[in-house]
Amino acid sequence: MQLKVLFDEETVRRKIKDMAKQIENYYRGKTESLCAICILKGSVHFFSELVLNINMNVNYSFVHVSSYAGTESTGRIRVKSWVDETLQGKYVLVVEDIVDTGNTLRYILSYLRKYKPADLKIAALIEKEKYQHGIPIDFVGFKVGDVFLVGYGLDYEERYRNLPYIGYLE
Ligand code: IMP
Ligand code: MG
Repeated sequence: MQLKVLFDEETVRRKIKDMAKQIENYYRGKTESLCAICILKGSVHFFSELVLNINMNVNYSFVHVSSYAGTESTGRIRVKSWVDETLQGKYVLVVEDIVDTGNTLRYILSYLRKYKPADLKIAALIEKEKYQHGIPIDFVGFKVGDVFLVGYGLDYEERYRNLPYIGYLE
């Protein structure tokens, strides 16, 4: 298998900066602070780069879930750790690396809604257009077709996460 670059480091960083500006514009006048939820492990780099570029007070929360085996979603979500702060009345932004079937996000959102946040939005670095997942993503970086991606947090069986760019295996 060969590793090919899809979005280089510069392109990824520029895109995340653009997303941060859109996010700032959306919250301007609504709230002074934001509760950003990082979906581990894949979102670690996206989350970090995104919040560093959002010029407002950002609180951090972390959720660790997994559902993949190899390049396929198993459809079973395993929650390994969950938010421990109250989200009631807060402005919550869920930060996800990539949306494929949407199962992971659907599951996470259904639980987060129970906390009754004042507002719940989603930022995803990548949206795959393979499935009609039906979840409106408020802030999207890149849209891709049916391709399995690695790098910038994304893994193939726990490898390639720390590549500074987004690539695919051919
Ligand atoms: P979904 O539940 O099918 O939407 O998949 C969401 C999760 O699966 C993401 O948060 C990723 O962690 C992982 N995932 C989906 N597609 C890819 C991919 O192309 N490469 C690496 N991980 C992926
Ligand atoms: Mg993920």
